Amino acid sequence: MGLRAWLANGVAASALIPSRLRRLLLAGAGARIGRSAIMHGGHYGGDLSKLRIGDYCYLNIGVSLHPTGGIAIGDRVALGPHVLVFTGTHEVGPAARRAANPPRFAPVVIGDGCWLGAGVIVHPGVTIGPGCIVASGAVVVADCAPNGLYAGVPAVRKKDLDPA
Ligand SMILES: CC(C)(COP(=O)(O)OP(=O)(O)OC[C@H]1O[C@@H](n2cnc3c(N)ncnc32)[C@H](O)[C@@H]1OP(=O)(O)O)[C@@H](O)C(=O)NCCC(=O)NCCS
Repeated sequence: MGLRAWLANGVAASALIPSRLRRLLLAGAGARIGRSAIMHGGHYGGDLSKLRIGDYCYLNIGVSLHPTGGIAIGDRVALGPHVLVFTGTHEVGPAARRAANPPRFAPVVIGDGCWLGAGVIVHPGVTIGPGCIVASGAVVVADCAPNGLYAGVPAVRKKDLDPA
């Protein structure tokens, strides 16, 4: 692990590090982060220069972001404990190696005001429109239109939310 990755994942993951310093360590590894709080224990893998987090977000403990394909998180977004956002995947390979190489990447966008509950997994290429709630444990494999409550595996729109 290089020095920047170690600072971003080893040092910044510690519960002893205050959120403001964690933000600085992630910024030092290339991420662009607004005035947002990031709790400890997470993992930030791949190309951190492709990670953007807006203002007034709250990332709970153990959030894992893998932004090589690009992750853009808007303002006032809440990510529950152990949310996982990844931007890389593999084509289906032959039996000898089903996860064919090289991997391919696609960006993830999480719009302003969204709330993702505990343990949500977001797949590459997905856009979650502004104002959405994604229920705990959901796996988001397709775009979510704005102001909806999504739940389940795969996540489906359960109801419309008030856009105000
Ligand atoms: C989504 C949530 C906010 C409930 O919102 P709500 O407006 O009260 O939703 P409802 O209870 O009316 O449920 C709406 C539908 O979603 C389903 N649903 C709600 N939460 C779900 C979950 N976690 N997994 C699967 N389905 C879920 C309900 O069964 C219901 O389905 P139906 O319409 O087919 O019957 C809540 O379930 C949740 O996931 N909260 C996150 C809690 C959390 O992660 N906290 C950690 C700190 S951020």
